[in-house]
Amino acid sequence: MSAGTDGARPDADAAGRRERKEDHVRLATAQWKGGTRTTEFDDLEFVHHALGGVSLPEVDLGVELFDRTVAAPFYINGMTGGTESTGRINQQLAIAARETGTAMGCGSVSIALEDESAADAFRVIRRENPDGLVMANIGVGRSVEDARRAVDLVGADALQVHVNAVQETVMPEGSPDFSSWLRGIEQIVAALEVPVLVKEVGFGLSARTLADLASIGVAWADVSGRGGTDFLAIENDRRPGRDYSYLTGFGQSAPAALLDARAHQGELGGMTLLASGGVRDPLDVVKALALGARAVGVAGSFLKAVVEGGPEGLVELIGSWQRHTRELAALLGARTAADLESTDLLVRGRLREFCTLRGID
Ligand code: FNR
Repeated sequence: MSAGTDGARPDADAAGRRERKEDHVRLATAQWKGGTRTTEFDDLEFVHHALGGVSLPEVDLGVELFDRTVAAPFYINGMTGGTESTGRINQQLAIAARETGTAMGCGSVSIALEDESAADAFRVIRRENPDGLVMANIGVGRSVEDARRAVDLVGADALQVHVNAVQETVMPEGSPDFSSWLRGIEQIVAALEVPVLVKEVGFGLSARTLADLASIGVAWADVSGRGGTDFLAIENDRRPGRDYSYLTGFGQSAPAALLDARAHQGELGGMTLLASGGVRDPLDVVKALALGARAVGVAGSFLKAVVEGGPEGLVELIGSWQRHTRELAALLGARTAADLESTDLLVRGRLREFCTLRGID
């Protein structure tokens, strides 16, 4: 993730950046070991229609991502790279992506733009997965030139640009220098030859943010909401002296962000939405699709699987998610991912309260 290295402020030395990458993986993995957690996905409930299903062989959940079709409507979201151990994780994620036909992102490539010795931890992805859909990643605030270099270095089909204002605020090396962000994204979108996807890192994109992005030509956004990997907690744990734990719960969940976006669709200029943040299982995937996401990004759940079980463990998990998402679609009467938007989905609890307060029916 960015922090200073991506933002305008020159920051910590190379050793500090490497340490941060490894801290993020270690602390994120520890968070996902905590067993089942409650999220706002739990506030969504499908109405079961006992005669409403379709036959499993009729279901095809392949979706178009950028200019390509991927077999399943979920992907490995951007996470890591830049050190030997995080390079190994990228290698294992790339093997699992190749074996399962899953699209994947990587962590911020910025570290490798400043230090060539960090580059192989990203190049390994293309080496392992020459034909798959791969996204490079960079923090907002970097130049057009850096964005191009990141795409070239990874050999990527698309670029994720992450916006992480909350993290920059709480991170010791952060760079809370936000006023030029929108203009910076506009320049990258205008200049790059590959599609650009703007994403949060676990605090959600509001409808207003999405409308701002649409107004500068952004066609793809991942709302990446709260409820999963928690970078407030991670940054707190990295520097115990700087306690921002009172901010816990700041931001919007992915379901809230999707509902917000749907209510303001007219202002989003046909933007395609992806969703991530706290996706625990195939039911969460299907719920996000039902709320209008084209595809669903998964970071923490897949990181835990690959750290604990290597590429084989992740291949098995992704395979089971592919089967289960199709089974759930059949149960819900959806032949395609888009059909899921016609299911009856109830909104309860805190998510319902969010809708009421935002004036969403
Ligand atoms: C991330 N994430 C992330 N995102 C990004 O755009 N650039 C980055 O460099 C990173 N780095 C990173 C490291 C680690 C270890 C994790 C787990 C995650 C954020 C990620 O893509 C996603 O937006 C959030 O993690 C929310 O999804 P989950 O983890 O709840 O599925």
